[in-house]
Amino acid sequence: MKPARKPVIAIDGTFASGKGSLAKKLAAYFGYAYLDTGKLYRALALRALEAQADLGGGPSLAKLAVLIRPGELANPKLKSGAVGAAASKVAVHNEVRAALKAYQVNFAHNPPKNVSGAVLDGRDIGTVICPQAEVKLYIDAKPQIRAERRYKELLSYGEDISLAQVLADLVERDRRDQNRAAAPLKPAVNAHLLDTTNLSIDAAFEQAKTLIMALLKPI
Ligand code: DC
Repeated sequence: MKPARKPVIAIDGTFASGKGSLAKKLAAYFGYAYLDTGKLYRALALRALEAQADLGGGPSLAKLAVLIRPGELANPKLKSGAVGAAASKVAVHNEVRAALKAYQVNFAHNPPKNVSGAVLDGRDIGTVICPQAEVKLYIDAKPQIRAERRYKELLSYGEDISLAQVLADLVERDRRDQNRAAAPLKPAVNAHLLDTTNLSIDAAFEQAKTLIMALLKPI
């Protein structure tokens, strides 16, 4: 008998909605492998910025994208606001998304041997990367609240930026991610929506955990 495939939890959502913290906690709780797919786009953006490449050139960016190695995803430089904004720009290209797709699909369906499932977070996991995922969550929160969260995070990295600027950047980022033609950010039709505006990370985790346990329960 063919063994049942390992479950995939797909988590999409807006910038600074809390999806990354939630995804990490869920992966730790369920003992699943975790991939922050935004890091792939950030790693490409960093390579492009360092090479002074044109962020508007899809085909040449795709050539850089295939060079990315998993070790690069831990680079602390990926966390900066400038790299995040550039990541949103390189992510609009179909060629780039195609070049980064196989790595994500493979991670989702072939997580390390002794791990029993995978959690991926990003913008198009439930819609494009893992349309058959057992669980799909879409995380959002009011822009002002997300900006305040991100502002605190950037200050902790030593960035010199105002809250107003963080909010303006966030609105622009959402607009670009949601309105691009290639795999725009949107909830999958069968995604469960979670608004974290008034939820702590722990409260969001409890809600998501309860839902996932119900969805993954053997029938
Ligand atoms: O989640 P993040 O802030 O690290 O993502 C940075 C950018 O990368 C985001 O604004 C859009 C892009 N991205 C994407 O297009 N698709 C994904 N699955 C993940 C990120």
